[in-house]
Amino acid sequence: MTIHYDRQSNIFHLQSKDMSYIIQIVNGTPTHAYWGKKLRNEASLEQFMAPRWKDPHNSLPLDGLPQEYPQYGTGDFRSPAYQVQLADGSRITELVFKNYQIIKGKPKLDGLPAVYVEDEGEAETLELELHDEYSGLIVYLSYTIFADHNAIARSVKFVHSGNHPLKIWRALSASVDFHDSNYEMMYLSGAWAREAQVRRRALLPGHTAIDSKRGVSSHQHNPFVAIMRPEADENHGDVYGFSLVYSGSFLAEAEVDQLFNTRVSIGINPFDFGWTLNPGDSFQTPEAVMVYSGDGIGGMSRTYHKLYRTRLARGEFRDKERPILVNNWEATYFNFDAEKIEAIAKAGAELGIELFVLDDGWFGKRDDDTTSLGDWYEDRRKLPNGLEDLAERVKATGLQFGLWVEPEMVSPESELYKKHPDWCIHVEGRRRSLQRTQSVLDFSRPEVRDYIFNALSDIFSRVPITYIKWDMNRYLTEIGSEGWPADNQTEIAHRYVLGLYDLLERLTTKFPHILFESCSSGGGRFDPGMLYYMPQTWTSDTTDAIERLRIQYGTSLVYPISSIGAHVSSVPNHQVGRMTPLKTRGDVAMSGNFGYEMDLRTFTDDEKEIAKQQVAMYKEIRPLVQTGEFYRLKNPFNGNEAAWIFVSEDQREALVFYFKVLAEPHMLSKRLVLKGLNPEFNYVLEPDGVEYGGDQLLAAGIYLPKLHGDYSSVWFKLKAQ
Ligand code: DGJ
Repeated sequence: MTIHYDRQSNIFHLQSKDMSYIIQIVNGTPTHAYWGKKLRNEASLEQFMAPRWKDPHNSLPLDGLPQEYPQYGTGDFRSPAYQVQLADGSRITELVFKNYQIIKGKPKLDGLPAVYVEDEGEAETLELELHDEYSGLIVYLSYTIFADHNAIARSVKFVHSGNHPLKIWRALSASVDFHDSNYEMMYLSGAWAREAQVRRRALLPGHTAIDSKRGVSSHQHNPFVAIMRPEADENHGDVYGFSLVYSGSFLAEAEVDQLFNTRVSIGINPFDFGWTLNPGDSFQTPEAVMVYSGDGIGGMSRTYHKLYRTRLARGEFRDKERPILVNNWEATYFNFDAEKIEAIAKAGAELGIELFVLDDGWFGKRDDDTTSLGDWYEDRRKLPNGLEDLAERVKATGLQFGLWVEPEMVSPESELYKKHPDWCIHVEGRRRSLQRTQSVLDFSRPEVRDYIFNALSDIFSRVPITYIKWDMNRYLTEIGSEGWPADNQTEIAHRYVLGLYDLLERLTTKFPHILFESCSSGGGRFDPGMLYYMPQTWTSDTTDAIERLRIQYGTSLVYPISSIGAHVSSVPNHQVGRMTPLKTRGDVAMSGNFGYEMDLRTFTDDEKEIAKQQVAMYKEIRPLVQTGEFYRLKNPFNGNEAAWIFVSEDQREALVFYFKVLAEPHMLSKRLVLKGLNPEFNYVLEPDGVEYGGDQLLAAGIYLPKLHGDYSSVWFKLKAQ
C-alpha cells in the first residue's frame, strides 16, 4: 500500500520507495505537512504535524499555514494556486474538504498528456474533494504516488455544480508550501540555438519565477524547476523537482514569505488566461510531476529519466532501439532534388546508417522559408515522381524513409491561406505578426485540425514512411480565434494546446508504426507534454559539438537520453563557425539519439572510415545509451571539461565519455572518478584491457589520457568480469 489514511488525525501519508508526502486536513483545509525522505507510518506523526499549525498567536492563520491548494482573499496574501470569479463579480471562494477517495493505479487525464501505469499495482491515487458551498464549485486535488519511483503526479479538476457561470482566472497544477526558506532554485533558461542553460540561484524573500507567454513551453525557459538545499550538489542533498506535462505558456515560481516559508507552484501561466465554467462543466489542469531526491540533482534526473522513458513516452518505439538517421537539412537546405537525396541516402547506406529523413522544402513551391506551409503536396519541380517514388528509391539503398512536416503553420503565400484566411490565430482588425514569414493555424477549431489530419493521413498512408519530424517554428502572437465568441477569447492559447494534443492523439493512434520526433526550431517545445506523443525531440538547432555539451547536459536534468536528438554536422559548423574533430562530434552525438546532418558525399576516405566506426560503435552501445542509467561526472557550465557515464541496469556494463574543450599546456594527466558502478564488481576497461575494482573506480577513478588539441574527447567501455 502506498497511501495510508488515519481518520483520527486526518493525515494522508503517501509513501514511495524512499519518499514520504504527508497531507493533513486541518479545520477543513488540506495542509502540507511534509515532503522528503521516507518516514515510517507511525501514530507519532499526529503529534509531529498538527500543533505547529494551531498556533494561537497567529492572528491570520492562513497566511502562515502550509497548504496544498491555497486560495486568495481569505487571509493568505501569498500567491494563490487558483482564483475563480463568480457571476456576481466577486472573487472569493473557500474550499473545504468534503471527501476523499483512494484509487488503485492512476486514472487517465481527459484530453491531456500524463504519466501512466501499466499495472494497477504500480501506483495509487489520492483524490481530495473540496467544496465551495456558495458557488457550487467542486475542486478535486489528485495525487498519484508510484511505488517504485520517488515521484508524485499532481493535477486538479474544477467541476461546476452551481447555477451561474464561473470564470477561472488561475488554475495551477500544484502548489507546495515548504516549511522554511533555506533553498536555491535551479532551472533551464536559454534562447533559440542556446537552449537548456543550467541556472541556479538562492531564494530570498519575494518571488523567483520563470515563465513562458509564447504559447509554447519555449526555448527561453523549460517548464521545470528544482528547489534544493544550498549544500545539495550533483550527488548529495535534498532536491525537489517540479516538471509540468504541458506544451503551452506556463508559470513556475517560488515565493519566500514574511515567515520564511517557501511556496513553490507550477501550472498554466495565469497571465492572459481565463476559462468560462458553465454549470455542469469541468476543467482539468495539466499534470505536474514532482520528484524528490535525497541523492542530489543526479538522483532527481534519474527518477525523471526512468519515469518519462517508461511511463510517459508511449507507443511501439518507447522500448525500441531508435534508428541512426541522416537528415538533409544542413546538407542541402531547400536546394535539392530526388537525385541528390538518393545520393546522400546511398552514402549513408555505405556507412551503415538506417534511416533517411527528408527535411523542409519538399512541398508546395517552397524554395525558401517564405511560402507554402499548409500546402501539403509534393513540389513536382523537385520531386517529379512524388514522394512514393523517392521513398522507394531511398528504401532501395537500404535505408528507411522519414519526412519533415510543420503542420501547425500556414504561410500567407499558400493555397491554404488564400482559401481560409481566417484559419490562423489572429485578432480581427489587428496586425498579423509574422515570424519566419508564417502564421500559426488555429488548432482551437476542430475543422482546422480535421483538415490537417486528413492532409497528413493521406501522405502517411500512401508513402512508406517510418519516421516523422514534426516541426513548429514560431511563437503565438495576437492570440485570438474567429471560431470562438468574445467570452472564450482568453481560452484560445490553452485551447490551441488541447487541439494540438487532440490531433497528435489521432495521428499517433492511426499510425502506430511511425516514429515521431518533435521539434520546435530545435528545443522550443522540449517538454513532457510532447514526449507523451513523440518519444524523441530535436534538442537544438545548434549542432556544434561544444555548444551541444552544455545543451545536452542541461536537457538531461529532466529528460531521458532516449529523447535527446543529437547529430554530427559538417565543419566549419553552420551556427558558430567552429572547427571540431569528427571524433568529438561523433562522441557528443553518440551521447544522445545518434545521427548525421550533413552531406555525407563530402566525406574523405579517412572520414568515411571514422564515421563507419562511429555507426558500428553506436549500434553496439545503443541499448546502454538509450536505456542505461545516466550519471553526470563533469559539468561543462563549470569549466573546460564535460563527462558522463551510462551504466546498464545490472551494472555490468558502462560507457564513459569525457570531453575537453580547450587544450592546456603543461598539464598532468588527471583522474576521472566514476559513478553508478558496483563496488563489488571488477571491470575490464576498453580500450586498454586493464582490470579495475569497482570500488577503486568509484573512489579513485581512472587516469585520463593526455589529449592533444582543442575540442578533444575520449571514451571508455567497462565490462564486469
Ligand atoms: C527548424 C528545425 O529545427 C531544423 O532542424 C529544420 O528542420 C528547419 N526548421 C527546417 O525549416
